[in-house]
Amino acid sequence: MPAQRSFLQGLVGVFGFPVAENPTQAMIEPAFADLGLDWRYLTVEVPPDRLPDAVRGARAMGWRGFNCTIPHKVAVIPMLDALSPAAEAIGAVNCVVLRDGQAIGENTDGKGFLQSLSSVRPVAGSRVVILGAGGAARAIGMELALSGASDLTIVNRTAQRGADLASRIRERSGVPCQFVPWEGRYRVGPEVDVLINATSIGLFSDVDALPAVDLDALRPGLLVCDVIPNPPRTPLLREAEARGCRTLDGLGMLVNQGVIGIQLWTGLDPRPEVMREALLDVFQPDDR
Ligand SMILES: NC(=O)c1ccc[n+]([C@@H]2O[C@H](COP(=O)([O-])OP(=O)(O)OC[C@H]3O[C@@H](n4cnc5c(N)ncnc54)[C@H](OP(=O)(O)O)[C@@H]3O)[C@@H](O)[C@H]2O)c1
Repeated sequence: MPAQRSFLQGLVGVFGFPVAENPTQAMIEPAFADLGLDWRYLTVEVPPDRLPDAVRGARAMGWRGFNCTIPHKVAVIPMLDALSPAAEAIGAVNCVVLRDGQAIGENTDGKGFLQSLSSVRPVAGSRVVILGAGGAARAIGMELALSGASDLTIVNRTAQRGADLASRIRERSGVPCQFVPWEGRYRVGPEVDVLINATSIGLFSDVDALPAVDLDALRPGLLVCDVIPNPPRTPLLREAEARGCRTLDGLGMLVNQGVIGIQLWTGLDPRPEVMREALLDVFQPDDR
């Protein structure tokens, strides 16, 4: 007799509002297929006032977990049973693991960035400047501080937000972290090892936008990073390369945080190259 086939699929997904342009499904489902898993990653639009119902629904339906994106990353916290140390320090959750009746909140944004960074230079002892103080900057700054960066500078347009992030990083990690208001063109000092654009400047469709930095201060020896995944080769990275800097794109961070999510949900190691290729197909189908 042929073995009986199961039509029951493992379910994960992303809850956001709006969420239609979130490309995560396009990289996670090919990774599941590559692992031989009959799992689905669903893109689910959840209005803010329905988030408690959505979380209860995911638990009731036996979802293995879910990502949270804007505006749910902080609001979801009271609906969970526990937080990882990084999610607790960052104060935001972008990945929830549902297992054994427990909902555990993680934050994989900073870890995804950290993996990209560690692949090209040691994090310990790094002197880092972060442009921006939103969700991405918060996750990256806290993970870098907790992973041994020696000195951080937060540069942000809205002073209160930037100062709050700098003091949170100092309090939680003990690492020196100063805030600099973003006025005019920011000039990166010669002592800085890593410059990170963690703002939304350069995101599709504003693809020609460049953060206000003094390009003459970009020099060989400085690593310049961008969190913008689409398009991955931003004007900032192009200018930095032209001045002899090494660069890291936001696609690597996006892939790495997806890898970590799959590891948390399934216990398996997906192939990052499958995920990167799948995203490039979505982002740049005409350039390939
Ligand atoms: N690659 C990845 O895996 C990954 C993961 C997460 C996020 N991201 C990307 O990271 C970017 C930021 O996301 P987020 O969640 O941090 O957003 P967010 O919380 O809205 O923060 C946006 C940040 O950008 C700054 N900003 C925006 N426009 C600016 C401008 N014209 N001049 C100066 N500063 C400006 C904001 O400054 P103010 O405080 O002054 O408003 C704020 O610091 C997005 O593009 C997102 O796609 C990438």
